[in-house]
Amino acid sequence: MKPEDLKVPFRWEERCILIKDRVWYLPNYYDHYNNFVFPGWNHHDVFGNDNPVYVEYCSGNGAWIAAKAMENPNINWVAVEKKFERAKKIWSKLKNSELNNLLVICGEAYKVTAHYFPPQTVNEIFINFPDPWPKTRHAKHRLIQQAFIQQLWSTLQIGHAVNIVTDDPDYSAQVIEEFHKHPGFVSSYPEPYYLTERENYGTSFFEEMWREKGKSIRYHRFQRSHES
Ligand SMILES: C[S@@+](CC[C@H](N)C(=O)[O-])C[C@H]1O[C@@H](n2cnc3c(N)ncnc32)[C@H](O)[C@@H]1O
Repeated sequence: MKPEDLKVPFRWEERCILIKDRVWYLPNYYDHYNNFVFPGWNHHDVFGNDNPVYVEYCSGNGAWIAAKAMENPNINWVAVEKKFERAKKIWSKLKNSELNNLLVICGEAYKVTAHYFPPQTVNEIFINFPDPWPKTRHAKHRLIQQAFIQQLWSTLQIGHAVNIVTDDPDYSAQVIEEFHKHPGFVSSYPEPYYLTERENYGTSFFEEMWREKGKSIRYHRFQRSHES
């Protein structure tokens, strides 16, 4: 299957939220969230089993998560990517490698989590190279902000963690500051609260690109510490 073989299953005027052929569509400019009820990770349209659920936000072309899904067939992997052109590439990988343990969500990270992810149902979260929005006046667009961190906390099981990887030192500082502000997360790493190498973590398109250019990479991990 080629990425272009995936077609949106509705016309723009009839757009809706639905799950079809391993893709969960959350269209832009559509806020009728109550028109769709998430049936649960173990529903046959989703994974059809009770295996642990690992979510990657901002999956890009899906190189990292497709490799993980292939290596770990007993984990259910969820790729969240807002751009359809990129979601198509993830879908093509899952089709060609018959990855029944991978679901693509074509939608915005905060919205899908806030509206649909049931509390304490996700076992691990990964965010690899979220857009850094390096200009000060654009920093408000960064994904890692308190409201989103609260959603991550809510959906994670106690004792499980959010992993964030970035090449951007400013964003790294913001990630550390924001997670430290939240009372329900503790860094898994001592000061300076990141590693620069993480064995067997896997590689993504952006990681390979930045490493080729000689950039240093920072791996953060924050564990959900308690009930409330
Ligand atoms: C810099 S790329 C990194 C892609 C991939 N993780 C990698 O490491 O190769 C960031 C990706 O996040 C997606 N993205 C940005 N904000 C998002 C959001 N709020 N919800 C879902 N995806 C988002 C972008 O469309 C883009 O594909």
